Amino acid sequence: MLAVARTRTLVRGGNALRAVSTWSTVPAGPPDPILGITEAFKADKDPRKINLGAGTYRDGNGKPYVLNAVKKAEDAVRAGNPDKEYLPITGLAEFTKNAVKLAYGPDSAPLKANIAVTQSLSGTGALRIGGAFLQRFYPHSKVIYLPVPSWGNHTPIFRDSGLEVRGYRYFDKGTVGLDFEGLKEDLRNAPEGAIVLLHACAHNPTGVDPTTAQWQEISDIVKEKRLFPFFDMAYQGFASGDTDRDAFAVRHFVSEGHQIALSQSFAKNMGLYGERTGAFSLVTKDPEENARVESQLKIVVRPMYSNPPLNGARIANAILSTPELYTEWEAEVKGMADRIISMRDRLYNELTHTHKTPGEWGHIKSQIGMFSFTGLTTPQTQTLAEKAHIYMTKDGRISMAGLNGSNIDYFAESVSKAVKGDL
Ligand SMILES: Cc1ncc(COP(=O)(O)O)c(C=O)c1O
Repeated sequence: MLAVARTRTLVRGGNALRAVSTWSTVPAGPPDPILGITEAFKADKDPRKINLGAGTYRDGNGKPYVLNAVKKAEDAVRAGNPDKEYLPITGLAEFTKNAVKLAYGPDSAPLKANIAVTQSLSGTGALRIGGAFLQRFYPHSKVIYLPVPSWGNHTPIFRDSGLEVRGYRYFDKGTVGLDFEGLKEDLRNAPEGAIVLLHACAHNPTGVDPTTAQWQEISDIVKEKRLFPFFDMAYQGFASGDTDRDAFAVRHFVSEGHQIALSQSFAKNMGLYGERTGAFSLVTKDPEENARVESQLKIVVRPMYSNPPLNGARIANAILSTPELYTEWEAEVKGMADRIISMRDRLYNELTHTHKTPGEWGHIKSQIGMFSFTGLTTPQTQTLAEKAHIYMTKDGRISMAGLNGSNIDYFAESVSKAVKGDL
């Protein structure tokens, strides 16, 4: 049987002509741009090499970091000797209840009965469930607007969900900041009822977020044009170090009466990357509507993966529901955010004061979250990889979390040389 599946013999006029594999017409796809960087980094034997491509947190020694709160939560979960039965389709109810509280706020109790929620395979899975649900049930449009640029996976996620993907202006290359006028104009010109994807905080890849006043204006335009706001919150706590502050946009929109959709990820803020822990939620009108929506979320999820994984949800829930673990976690999130902010300050000082690098570098300090759009050009990023063994995406995005006390001076010196054409 195996041989039959692998090769098929074409017989024409009784003669075997040639053996053709079933998959001979499958075209090779392009490599994933970020994983490609990791491959090149791994193959590089130079001891000074630095990988700033991947969006995963590294500690001050450049090592992956398992939070203490997570280790303690794992111990607590194990001590309860839990079974390995299936979770319900929408996941661990305690976890989703606590995830909703974290996002929508401690005062979200009156809303609770109106928030339809399901556990998801981290943020990616939440976006995919959201895309599939909106494609099936959102009555006003099948068009979703993404910021330009956006996280690279947004387009394929929503395209594979059956939505038409369009862009709204977000980043101004000239100022290396928010193109707020362009953003407003594009949202005002979007067809009424279209879906708009908003990064709740720590915009990936630019590190540029709207101010609170700008969020208020965006909320007004979304209301005026009856757009549907879909928030992607992959970095709550990671931007400012404060989970409430980072949830400002989400909570402001809800307080303004928007029926938002929300994707949450616990990959970054709890360091649960591979545990695939997240949630997708929608604000509904009342408990009856909520029950109808949740019943359909189950019908979206069931044929995709039946039910979500147990372990990460148990860990996250232990942290969210145990006051001592919660306090420790909050301090650790702040510690990660603060380390990144300190790297921003140091990089800015090295580039401007130590190396007198041509150009304006204030954006390094004003951008927020894990990433910085440095403004380096594609040829400069290529030179940095070839000559200095420093790897980043070719659009000049760096993961600030990849910098530390041991490599930042070499990084700044190399960037400065690349900009001056001296590398
Ligand atoms: C903006 C954004 N959304 C969603 C995700 C989803 O990540 P995950 O599926 O690991 O939670 C990421 C990860 O890098 C991201 O940057």
